[in-house]
Order: sequence, then structure tokens, then C-alpha cells
Amino acid sequence: MTAFPRNQWYVAAYGSEVGRELLGRTVLGEPIAFYRTADGAGEVVALADRCVHRRYPLSQGRLDGDTLVCGYHGFTYDRTGACVFVPGQKRVPRTARVAAYPVVEQDSLVWVWIGEPALADPRAVPRAPHLAGPGWTSVSGMEPVDCDFGLLVDNLLDLSHETYLHGGYIGTPEVAETPITTEVDEGAGIVRVSRHMDDAACPSFYARSTGIEGRITRWQDIEYHAPCLYLLHSRVAPVGVLPNPDGTDPDAFHIEITYAITPSAPGRVYDFWAVSRDFARDDPEVTTVLRDLNHTVVMQDVDALTILQRALDAEPAGGQELSINIDTGGLAARRILARLAEEGAAPGERVS
Ligand code: FES
Ligand SMILES: [Fe+2]
Repeated sequence: MTAFPRNQWYVAAYGSEVGRELLGRTVLGEPIAFYRTADGAGEVVALADRCVHRRYPLSQGRLDGDTLVCGYHGFTYDRTGACVFVPGQKRVPRTARVAAYPVVEQDSLVWVWIGEPALADPRAVPRAPHLAGPGWTSVSGMEPVDCDFGLLVDNLLDLSHETYLHGGYIGTPEVAETPITTEVDEGAGIVRVSRHMDDAACPSFYARSTGIEGRITRWQDIEYHAPCLYLLHSRVAPVGVLPNPDGTDPDAFHIEITYAITPSAPGRVYDFWAVSRDFARDDPEVTTVLRDLNHTVVMQDVDALTILQRALDAEPAGGQELSINIDTGGLAARRILARLAEEGAAPGERVS
């Protein structure tokens, strides 16, 4: 099992999922109840999802203004997690409070800080501006997967699997055939993996969304900000269309594929996915095509990772892996995740 890196920001939800209904999500094993305040700012509140009274999940309760009323016996909490009402007595015990989590809402995502609240720095939340920025249209979704979150990181950092697992959708022979280049910024915790295909078949994902009929140049530039945010900058153009010398690239189609990889519990991960495009932005048909195709592709990965996890669980300890060139990015990610887990562990929990 990949150790959970604490003292990090994680995507817990899309902003559109958090409103005046309580939302329960478990992040790094910590159950959290989310809601949005009713005041003008409409801020997202994240409280530990266990009542101090008998530990009933607060996400099963209800909102009363900006306070949360436990659905079992009515303990009532304000947005800081302080209990402001208990039934049957005037005095509220001093220790009656639940943890409030630091939250940042940015680029349409709700990020929550898991770890020591005093260490939370909102400026450290990585950006995905295309998700909410002008010039882009996005579709998105989330699938929980029953696997170690490290398997999803492996999966996303090696796109050669597109040829085999996603053939006919996003995979063509050229993906697996084309070598990658990998750059690792250990200090910043960023892994970059690039694969530029000069002359490749156009898979249906791009043929149906862009209308290109012939062969394409296809660039895949991955930027993984450990532990949670994965960006795939994808550029597609008919063969022969090159970026201008000044760096502009108006004749190409750009798709930003975003994943947020959020460990939920041991053996369970939230797979947030989004596809943003800078073309046919108002075309509902293209929106539907990209949503449906990407959902299909995500489910192919979900099924494969569920099968893989079951196979690993059934194996005696000590089964050997063999890594090759395509795994360079994934191995770098594993190394960074191990370091972040080590740095985020409480002193008594350190493994080495
Ligand atoms: S469990 Fe919440 S009030 Fe009793
Ligand atoms: Fe995949």
C-alpha cells in the first residue's frame, strides 16, 4: 500500500457539488462534512464528520442557517466546529467541538488540507486555471475506485497503456511506440513526462471532437504535482501544422485533461477527471462526445485497476515487478510520494 502523504492539499469535491445540502467525503481516512455558508460569500465549510456526542456522521444532519445540526440528538456546530447548542441543558461543555479543516476553493475545485492546520498555506495549492478560466469549456466527473491510490498514479503517468487498454478510444499504436522524455523536479514534487508523436493515427476521441480526418501530430505533456493534481496538456493538429516561430499555436486543437487523485481510505481512491477544450466551445454535441468518451475511458481504467488490486491482494507477499523505460515517470512519482509521506508523518509514525 502506498503511504498517505499528510500535510498536503487534496481535492475533496467540485465547487458545484458543495451547496446547502451536506456532502460527506472521506479524505485520507478522515470523514469530512462539507457545506456552503448562506451569507454573501458562500464559503465552503469542512467539519470533521463525527459528532462529539455519539459520533453520528454530521453529514446526515441538516443546516440551520450557517450552523450544522446533528441528525441524532441535535448538537449544533458553527462553521468553526464549535458546539453552540446541546439539548436539555444550558451549559455547552467546553470540549464540545469538532475539527474544522482549512479549505481553498480555486479553479472550480474544493481543496482540503489534511494534516496540521497551522501548516496549511493556501498559496501552495496547485493551479488548473483552464477548469474555470475564459477560453475553455470543460466536462468533468468523479469515480471512486477500489484500489491503492498509487495504482492510479502509476496508471496516469504511463500513457503507453492507452494503446492496449483504450484502443479505439484514445489509444493508437504510436502511443506505445513513441519513446518518452521525463523530467523530475524533486524539490517541487513535480514530474513531467512528454511524448510527441509526429505522424500518428487519429483516435476517435480526437477525430469525433475536432473533425480531423487524416493523420495527426499529437503531443502529450504530463505535469504531475504530487500528491494530487495531474495535468495532461494535449495538442492535436493535422500533420504538417506546426506552432508558429513566436510560440503561438492557433491552428492546433488543445485539450487539457485534468485528474485529481485523492486517497479516500486504504484501498480506495477518488478519481476526479475533467476534459477542457479551446475549440468548438459552444457546440453541445462536442461536449456530449467528450463527456461520454472520457467517461468510457475512465471506466476502462477503473475496471482494470480494480482487477489489478484484487490480483495483488490475492498474491503472497514478495511478488516481483519489472520496470522499463515507460515507467520512469511513475517510479519518480512513487519516490516523491514516499518522501512526502515520510515528511508528513507524525514523529512517532516515521518508518525509517
Ligand atoms: S450523536 Fe450527535 S447529537 Fe448525539
Ligand atoms: Fe487509462
